[in-house]
Amino acid sequence: MSDWATRLAFSSVDRTKFVTAASELGRNALVHGGGGTMTIAEVLKGEQPGLRLDFEDEGKGIADVAQAMTDGYSSARSLGLGLGGARRLVSEFNIISHPGRGTRVTVIQWKRR
Ligand SMILES: Nc1ncnc2c1ncn2[C@@H]1O[C@H](COP(=O)(O)OP(=O)(O)O)[C@@H](O)[C@H]1O
Ligand SMILES: [Mg+2]
Repeated sequence: MSDWATRLAFSSVDRTKFVTAASELGRNALVHGGGGTMTIAEVLKGEQPGLRLDFEDEGKGIADVAQAMTDGYSSARSLGLGLGGARRLVSEFNIISHPGRGTRVTVIQWKRR
């Protein structure tokens, strides 16, 4: 992941933000979602390059996404800063969850001009 961000010549700050968000979301897929997949892709908005990450799992899902996004909420008695933190670290953040079927989180980091 860091290699991809380096190849697109992200600033070191943006690279760190991207990798930190990815690690929180990957941890969630493992810890709360029972494991899943991550895919990475280069994307373009006009001439602006970016990186998109998709985390998908087929775990228990999230009944109340707004609550899950709230800083400090954790069903696992951990810090509860992963989702909110990840959202603040990337350019775009989208989460879809179907209780009982799984969760998909997609994030994009656009390269700053
Ligand atoms: N992939 C997931 N599958 C199921 N529940 C999730 C997933 N990701 C997050 N959650 C729920 O959202 C809550 C908040 O997530 P997060 O902010 O990362 O905090 P933490 O991981 O410390 O609990 C989790 O406690 C869990 O209930
Ligand atoms: Mg977490």
